[in-house]
Amino acid sequence: MRAATVAVIQALAGAAIELAGTIAAGPLGGVSGEAAGVNPDGDRQRDIDLVADRLMRDALRSAPVAAVLSEEAELPETLDADAPLCVAIDPLDGSANLENNISIGTIFSIRPKGFDVISTFFEPGTAQIAAGCFIFGPQTLLVLALDQCVDCFTLDPRTREFVLTARDVQVPQDTPEFAINASNRRHWSGAVRGYIDECLAGVNGERGQDFNMRWIGSLVAEAYRILMRGGVFLYPADERQGYREGRLRLLYEAHPIALIMEWAGGAASNGRSRILELSARTPHQRVPLIMGSARAVRDVEAKHLTVEPLFESSDAPLFARRGLFR
Ligand code: F6P
Ligand code: MN
Repeated sequence: MRAATVAVIQALAGAAIELAGTIAAGPLGGVSGEAAGVNPDGDRQRDIDLVADRLMRDALRSAPVAAVLSEEAELPETLDADAPLCVAIDPLDGSANLENNISIGTIFSIRPKGFDVISTFFEPGTAQIAAGCFIFGPQTLLVLALDQCVDCFTLDPRTREFVLTARDVQVPQDTPEFAINASNRRHWSGAVRGYIDECLAGVNGERGQDFNMRWIGSLVAEAYRILMRGGVFLYPADERQGYREGRLRLLYEAHPIALIMEWAGGAASNGRSRILELSARTPHQRVPLIMGSARAVRDVEAKHLTVEPLFESSDAPLFARRGLFR
């Protein structure tokens, strides 16, 4: 199974090298970053999303993959029904940032094929055997969670190879820094408002220290910053229509990022339960995501236990280990 997993990662890395070239060339490479439709989940698609989806899918056809679930397609596609692995992938997360020359990336999650393809994707995140992301930024990186640890590889553009540049990365635990889209404050639950208000109160508030804030609006870039610098990222559920289960998708965003965080000594939660213990009910299931330094994630969870929600969210009770669907 490990050899098959490595073969899948190598196939994805080959596609990522090609995608990195296309992204770096921008308009010179014939990709404008312009709108090209709407994906099954209602997000605007850009031409580069479709290029990334095709590259990744084609690469996976030559790897031991039974099925691929992509953000860009409604249902999983069966590739080789007898192969041992299934892959969930966000071919190009944060693609809208490309027009601003901000880091974007490919997120992937690899799990052993279970009884059948569909039930495999509905297993909890603990079923993942490996996960990672390619980041297309000032450098092209591969952040890889494999064998219970997280390593980073940098693409050498001269040899077109990913070279190991950081082994067994650990999330720094004591960084007073948070990331949240603060424009949504009025829609947040009491728990999230309470936690962020305490951070903003700084040294004279309940947390007793001044906090810094970052928001890139690109999940892979936020996850990498947290891996290197620590802190906490929140994309909570909020009371806007369509955000009652958060914004990010469980199978190809939250599960793989949670595996990276946990194997690097951090944590990831929906506010009440470990992300890795949650199972999807639908391929494009959304989930609130709070990830980063373990202590900060625990602090946000503590708020969820003590502060009344301001709206009816559809998170935890349905998806938690002991919820209706488990
Ligand atoms: O895929 C979703 C995404 O682009 C993430 O990369 C990012 O974290 C988030 O959306 C930003 O959301 P918003 O635009 O609501 O701040
Ligand atoms: Mn995405």
